[in-house]
Amino acid sequence: MAEQHRGSTVIPEDKVREVAERLSIVDVVSEYVPLRRAGANYTGLCPFHAEKTPSFNVNPAREIFHCFGCGAGGNAFSFIMKIEGLSFPEAVKLMARKTGIEIEERQLTPADKQAQDERQTFQRINELTAVFYRSVLEQKPEGAAAREYLERRAASGEIAEAYRLGFAPDRSDGLVQHLKASGINLESALKLGVVRKSERGWYDQFRNRLMFPIRDTKGSVIAFAGRVLDASLPKYINSPESPLYHKSSVLFGMDMALPTIRTENSIIIVEGYFDHLALFRAGIRNVVATCGTALTATHTSLLKRHAAKVYLLFDSDAAGRKATIRSMELFMEQRLPAYVISLPAGDDPDSFLANNPVGAFRTCQDKARPAFDFFVRSLLAQTPPDSVDSKVRIIDELLPRFKKIADPVERDLYEKEICRLLGITTHAFRKRMGGMELTSRDTGGDQKQADQKGDSTQETLLSLICSYPEARAEVIKSDINNLFEGDYLELARLVLDTRANSDDDQALSHLLERIEAPGVRTLLSRMLVSEACMADVDWRNVLEDCIRSIEKKALRSIRNLTAQLRTVDPDSTEHTSLLHEINDLRTRKSKLYV
Ligand code: GTP
Ligand code: MN
Repeated sequence: MAEQHRGSTVIPEDKVREVAERLSIVDVVSEYVPLRRAGANYTGLCPFHAEKTPSFNVNPAREIFHCFGCGAGGNAFSFIMKIEGLSFPEAVKLMARKTGIEIEERQLTPADKQAQDERQTFQRINELTAVFYRSVLEQKPEGAAAREYLERRAASGEIAEAYRLGFAPDRSDGLVQHLKASGINLESALKLGVVRKSERGWYDQFRNRLMFPIRDTKGSVIAFAGRVLDASLPKYINSPESPLYHKSSVLFGMDMALPTIRTENSIIIVEGYFDHLALFRAGIRNVVATCGTALTATHTSLLKRHAAKVYLLFDSDAAGRKATIRSMELFMEQRLPAYVISLPAGDDPDSFLANNPVGAFRTCQDKARPAFDFFVRSLLAQTPPDSVDSKVRIIDELLPRFKKIADPVERDLYEKEICRLLGITTHAFRKRMGGMELTSRDTGGDQKQADQKGDSTQETLLSLICSYPEARAEVIKSDINNLFEGDYLELARLVLDTRANSDDDQALSHLLERIEAPGVRTLLSRMLVSEACMADVDWRNVLEDCIRSIEKKALRSIRNLTAQLRTVDPDSTEHTSLLHEINDLRTRKSKLYV
């Protein structure tokens, strides 16, 4: 299955269409999920999150799927990408093979070809480098200290082999000489950061360090991390960012973890290379580590592509706690359930597994708390809610995160729990929340949250412009900027563009493939699966209703902002910006008409 070059392959659009036309989404999905007919749709248990009652829908007429539980949605290709963890071209190729269509990839342009050659050179350099470090560790007298070190840390033999551990000798030009002898142009090696250059010539980046190759999901070496053998600092040196290595999107050990991730449908995230190694050695293999950086949104979306839930296993110190809470927010935004595994204070996975059997670890994992629950408890442990003042502080810490809970049932349960723990009424809690909403109105995150909850007015309006050309014309007249916001606005633009070119129903399904933003895509797939109810309505009536309700909402905001205006200093910039905002809202409102 391993391909030689990735990324630069382009499949011609007409081939993609040809494959799509021969597929039936019901057949494709049925290979993974048992489906039953239910009206216009087929339903089944969602393969992307755990559920007991089916909320996963497949619509054969539009060739799309959508899960009302987790928001996953798309066409046959997106389904295959998600369930097999493939890129778009890979999914198209897989489906092409099944339907017997031959795909010739587009002729590469000279620039494509050059990029591809360079990539191959980079890969060859990393491969040569990994082999060089490995041979020093395994065979050379210079590797003796590292061999002893790994013995001591129970990381020799098969473990060292699995990670392809190596050792960078304590010489200034060991790797330089090796690459030169292999005919490598050192300027290319410089771009990867494995060698460096000064007036006195070329020298090695890594010296006297135990070397962890960092690999991509396919197992190709893309960078290195080098650890000292003693207590000197810095403990680790990593390869710099390079054309192959973007640390914000790479998770260490993903290639080793993937087979187990598929069977477990979960991923454990740790912070250190040696923590990863300790779990792997213990036979717990659905594990990845960040490469010495905080988790990013790119990481979380990569994780979401492969599993339905994640476990955070960070240090139990203050830094680890902070990292856990930051990561929790990312997972909430992505709607990927996250749990926190807590080990006894002072232990990291490595030390814990050195002194306890695997079963003890599994017990900790079984007791993992939902990340938000962990967050609430650690907040209360830090600030005991024993005075009005401390309760207010706790609530203010909690609220921005609380608002990110997408699931209404979960939100409700947490609200009750928080109020119980703090000894306050839900009324008081909500009142505080209302106040916060006013002051944090300009943060993008809250906007997103509002979208995820679903704004039925904007959704109805969108369905309307999908189906009724006359409604479309009216909406364009009123200016979509006055009617939609956030993800809805983005989708409204896309729908209008698509509709301007084609009235074909399939055009909207094709649109799904092109949308990158997960929020916008979820919106569209949800609409397309449920929009049948929009057939045969009096579009003018529905449109008028929607506009009235948008008007009301604008009025409410204007009132809220005006109330807030009275509380701020008239000479402040905040005052001016509030005034601007109120004016904007008034203008928008005045432009609404049917
Ligand atoms: P041991 O302490 O030997 O068990 O190694 P470890 O890999 O578990 O490291 P540690 O727990 O100290 O740190 C966790 C992770 O943070 C490491 O695996 C690295 O990714 C990163 N890290 C730690 N120290 C450094 C450093 O000095 N520089 C960089 N770039 N990253 C570091
Ligand atoms: Mn450690």
